[in-house]
Amino acid sequence: MRARLMLLILLIALPAVGVVTYDFARERRRAAAQARGEALRYAVLASRAIDEVVETTSALLAALAQLPDIRAATPGRCQALLQARLSRHLYYANLGVVGPDGLLRCSALPFTPPVDLSDRAYFQLAVSARGFVVGEYQVGRVTGRATLNFGYPLLDERDRVLGVLFAAVDLRWLNEVAANIASALPSGATLTLLDREGTVLVRYPDPDRWVGKTVPEAPLLAAMVAGPAEGTVEVPGLDGRARFVGYRHLQPGEGRILYLAASVPRQVAMEPVDAAFTSNLATLFLVTVAGMVVAWSTATRLILHPMDALAGAVRRLAAGDLSARTGWRGGPGEIAQLAGAFDEMAESLQRRTAEREAAESQVLRQLQTLTALYTAARNLTRSLDSHALAGEVVRSCVTFGAARAWLGRVEAGGAVRPVRWFPEDAPSPPGVVVRWDDSPAGQGPVGRCVRSGFPVVEGVRSDPTPAPWGEAALARGSRTVAAFPLVAREKPWGVLTVYGLEEDFFTPERVEFFQAFAHLSAAALDNARLFEETEQSLRRLQGLRTVDLAITGSLDLRVSLEVLLDQVIAQLEVDAAAVLLLNPRTHLLEHAAGRGVGPGGAAVRPGDGHAGRAVMDRRTVLVSDLRRSPDSSLSVRAGEDVVGYCATPLVAKGEVKGVLEVYTRRPLDPPSRWVEFLETLAGQAAIAVDNAALFADLQRANLDLTLAYETTLEGWSRALDLRDRETEGHTQRVADLTVRLARAMGVPEDEVAHIRRGALLHDIGKMGIPDAILLKPGPLTEDEWAVMRQHPDLARTLLWPITHLRPALDIPYCHHERWDGTGYPRGLRGDEIPLAARIFAVVDVWDALRSDRPYRPAWPPERALQYIREQAGRQFDPEVVRAFVQMIESPDLSALTREGVSGRG
Ligand code: C2E
Ligand code: SIN
Ligand code: SIN
Ligand code: FE
Ligand code: FE
Repeated sequence: MRARLMLLILLIALPAVGVVTYDFARERRRAAAQARGEALRYAVLASRAIDEVVETTSALLAALAQLPDIRAATPGRCQALLQARLSRHLYYANLGVVGPDGLLRCSALPFTPPVDLSDRAYFQLAVSARGFVVGEYQVGRVTGRATLNFGYPLLDERDRVLGVLFAAVDLRWLNEVAANIASALPSGATLTLLDREGTVLVRYPDPDRWVGKTVPEAPLLAAMVAGPAEGTVEVPGLDGRARFVGYRHLQPGEGRILYLAASVPRQVAMEPVDAAFTSNLATLFLVTVAGMVVAWSTATRLILHPMDALAGAVRRLAAGDLSARTGWRGGPGEIAQLAGAFDEMAESLQRRTAEREAAESQVLRQLQTLTALYTAARNLTRSLDSHALAGEVVRSCVTFGAARAWLGRVEAGGAVRPVRWFPEDAPSPPGVVVRWDDSPAGQGPVGRCVRSGFPVVEGVRSDPTPAPWGEAALARGSRTVAAFPLVAREKPWGVLTVYGLEEDFFTPERVEFFQAFAHLSAAALDNARLFEETEQSLRRLQGLRTVDLAITGSLDLRVSLEVLLDQVIAQLEVDAAAVLLLNPRTHLLEHAAGRGVGPGGAAVRPGDGHAGRAVMDRRTVLVSDLRRSPDSSLSVRAGEDVVGYCATPLVAKGEVKGVLEVYTRRPLDPPSRWVEFLETLAGQAAIAVDNAALFADLQRANLDLTLAYETTLEGWSRALDLRDRETEGHTQRVADLTVRLARAMGVPEDEVAHIRRGALLHDIGKMGIPDAILLKPGPLTEDEWAVMRQHPDLARTLLWPITHLRPALDIPYCHHERWDGTGYPRGLRGDEIPLAARIFAVVDVWDALRSDRPYRPAWPPERALQYIREQAGRQFDPEVVRAFVQMIESPDLSALTREGVSGRG
């Protein structure tokens, strides 16, 4: 009986050993899976930190690559720009620009040229891939530090490489970040960042021992390269210890993959399981031995009954029912004690299983939170458009379980202006402004959040002065609200307000989660804003260039001002703009050009109204809300069309020329950059006005000069007539008649002006002929003729130096050439003689013959005309003779000439 009892006890113990062993194996698998999951979570966590560096660097390089001074590596300016960026980021060891030849052009840190970087992976990759790239482990030639460099190509408009912009991330810093993350990991955990060649970029612990080493044959590297982009493996670590590893492939830029691994030692992960197994086994052993001892000393009757219960409970336990109990606990006898021990064991097994499951579900929840944050962060880096980003932020809040959310921008005047909200049925923004100043309206959660810079949570009901948003949220069933500051460079510039349906929606975990999300959102939005500002600067520069071109390309002030106003409206995003100019005579400001503004009211006196004050004080006048500061002299009525107003004086060469006004439909509260740009444009306008005034002066001076010239010429020709003792007015007469004849023959008007001057001066050469010859009453001797024939040459010598009269020289120089080539001074023939001279010759001889000369009396008109006709084809161009005869015989003129001369004849 006793022996059987012993056997029975052993037989009963056997399934219990089986259960414990089976449970142990399951526990080990579970522990391994949990350790792998944990390792992967650490890898994801660490990769977020690296992604953030990569995204920041990519955005920074892309923004820098737009700047002309960086692209041209302008001496001094380029280094100053890079230095400014370097001082803002902890993690760069250096920033620089490499030329297409691989030589370093400019760098935030000073260097001694030449520094050849053509062998650098980031340089070669950026040139070939033409995109943002990551290089490899290196020791900088300027910094002397271990860095990981990122490259970004500078391309010209034809896609040729102008150079490569790089950012050197300090590996010492990256390792410190890894150490920070790893300090939260269990003991013995590691973080490792490798490149494809096995070079260690980041390593925790022992960075000094590992970073920069190359371990191409490490099983860890082989496992990560062969595996999928993200996963877990069990391999020896770099230190040779068996480890559970979670890893991710990172592709920071084009071309290269980096491998990030986090690991926990196998032994550390398994220790609690192993210890539990040993203690369970020991308990079981003790229970069995105790059972045997009891059985040995107890009567069968006392044993058999409880034994049945025990056997039944053990079977249920073996079948997985952890709630199985003998029910004999505390009963009499040793068997009851055995049963009690069994029940205790079963209880502890059940408790531990429950604890484990609770721990597992918590880990799972944390993992979900991190995954949600990680996904949201990725989504936020996809766009550089801040409006779209803000929309994504509020939408995400609702996907995270919030009932509604809005994002507002903090404004200088104490207002928070809603920018985006979700769902979109919320009250629309105009007029809905939350306050953050000390006023009663600023005591809500949003106001307190902005002032303190910390999240504020409270029930919607307990908000002492619910803003319209709060009331609307209450009406839609929200019970609780939390406001989270959006902070950039330590200043809250915005607020993310989130509503929950349940009173207890904002658990500490949720608040922490939304705070982290608000932080990520703020960084992404700030990045986008920087990018947009860079773009805006570029657009404004192009706008200035357009205005410059308009001013230099046109002397028409109206055209220049129209181009300017177009740019004012487009670049400053205003609704209307106008230019008033100071009338130098009346000293009043008069409307000169406008866009979106009527032609303007009465002229404004300097000193009156906003525009007058801008001119008088020579400074920009900004009126945020015209309804509070009305001005009756404005060309637009406040409140009807416009609310915001700004005027800036146009000053050129220290003189006020007028004023540039802009109008907006909303209250005007612009950043200082906006005002500076307005003043720059006003400077351009002043130059345009000044240019136009100079041009007008020049035109007037030119006209005065021309008039003076003509008067002088007529004076000279009268003097000549007097000396020649010709019929008074001969020269004036031949000039008039020549002009008529030229016009009749279709000579263009601009040449007619020269012909008239030539005719007035035709015999100016006779000034050089002595009186004895010129006034000789009889025919000339051979020698006298030789002198007389010099007068066309003399005219040319006299007039040539006067540039203005050069086009009029044909007549003085050629009026004695003859059609048949027998004339003087050059003996030209036919068409060789300038047309002006051919026309003039006919008129001159006609008038000479019709006049008294010292050497003969005047001829009657019929005879003179007869002579002219005879000379067609000999002395004169037959065409000219035909036109002349036709003109002379036209009734009005023939009467006039006949009388005009024969009266003195
Ligand atoms: P002018 O007196 O003004 O004459 C201009 C031209 O009209 C002459 O150019 C000639 O082509 C024509 N002309 C003037 N009078 C007569 C005329 O009685 N008969 C004809 N057939 N044609 C006449 P030309 O001949 O080259 O003379 C140039 C200038 O020389 C004249 O200008 C005049 O100042 C002077 N001159 C010409 N012939 C004499 C002359 O016999 N005695 C004097 N003292 N001067 C003369
Ligand atoms: C440096 O900043 O050290 C120069 C860049 C390089 O060595 O690649
Ligand atoms: C407030 O903070 O003033 C109100 C918060 C809200 O209405 O959304
Ligand atoms: Fe002459
Ligand atoms: Fe003449």
